[in-house]
Amino acid sequence: MSDNEQQIKLVLGQPLEADIVSADRSVVLVKAGTMVTQDLMMRLTNWLHEQERLREKQEKTGKKGARHKMRWDILKKLEFEQIVSDRTRKQLEKGCENFFSTIGKKGSPPDIAALEDAVQTMVSESPDNPDMPLKLLEMKKHSSYLFQHAMNCGVIATFVATALKYPTREIAAFALAMMLHDTGLLTVNPDSLNKMELSEKELVDIRNHPRSGYDALRTIPGVDPLALLVAIGHHVYADGSGYPDNVDFHDLPELAHLAVIINDFESLTSEKPLSEAIHMHEAIVAMLRQSEKYHPVMLSHFIRAVGFYPVTTFAQLNTGEVGVVVRNNPENLFLPEIKLVMDENGKRFPSEISVDLMRESDRWITRIKDNI
Ligand SMILES: [Fe+2]
Repeated sequence: MSDNEQQIKLVLGQPLEADIVSADRSVVLVKAGTMVTQDLMMRLTNWLHEQERLREKQEKTGKKGARHKMRWDILKKLEFEQIVSDRTRKQLEKGCENFFSTIGKKGSPPDIAALEDAVQTMVSESPDNPDMPLKLLEMKKHSSYLFQHAMNCGVIATFVATALKYPTREIAAFALAMMLHDTGLLTVNPDSLNKMELSEKELVDIRNHPRSGYDALRTIPGVDPLALLVAIGHHVYADGSGYPDNVDFHDLPELAHLAVIINDFESLTSEKPLSEAIHMHEAIVAMLRQSEKYHPVMLSHFIRAVGFYPVTTFAQLNTGEVGVVVRNNPENLFLPEIKLVMDENGKRFPSEISVDLMRESDRWITRIKDNI
């Protein structure tokens, strides 16, 4: 490693060991001692992707970039776990972009095989680790919410189906189905998705998107039947609500019921044109409050995989201390293992203190904190 390269380990809940500086070392971007929060990690990652895009653009155009340009090859060494490697994510994005841009157009049909290959790679790479910080998958911000939603749903599907020990072939088929589930929205006027008050026609179009997605996917050679069922069933709820009207919840397979849960969870926890993201734990609580809408076994499986307090949740304890969830106890989802980061006076602990709430009867979580 040369002099001007930096390798900094990011540890959630711990202060940064060294400054993160721009490539020319003229600007301190994040000061040493700053607490590494989920928010900081996400911001850094988003920003790194921006830097990479900028670098690629500069390579193409040969132009010098902004003053604060940071070398991607240095910063990618920041260590934090990802469900999907950068290389695979790019492959997925490309496959997804090509697929969505050719669907419904004249000429050769969309290339399902390329997208399938990318999904296979994601599934084979995906570590069977329930303590993966799920929210980090939301790194890439895409201009299109639909595209980002598709990508995220594909990754969550891989994570959850892997945790539930589905066979690899089914995981891949399900992940691909989740990436394609909103294909029908491509036929809806994008303006309708960004406004509060919809006309009768716009409402009908939106409520029809599962059907139009099903119809579009059906015509594409090689699309797995599961993708058709997920497309038509991803807004069909167990209590009879949702749409389309003529699709019966009981006619759908269990993975289509899981698709409903993943779709709602991703939607609740993502920034959208008309609504703000809520915390993963709040999304779980909101879904539990309306549990009659979901397949009970699938909802329980999903929460078991993601955790009631998902890994990376910041939690305030009855003692006043603040910790970050690092592992869930399958025996009791209310009592995860946490890493204490602040004492009752808001002072940072100098070193990492792990506490397994299962084994500490005098400590428990009283509320979650968005940030610290
Ligand atoms: Fe949808």
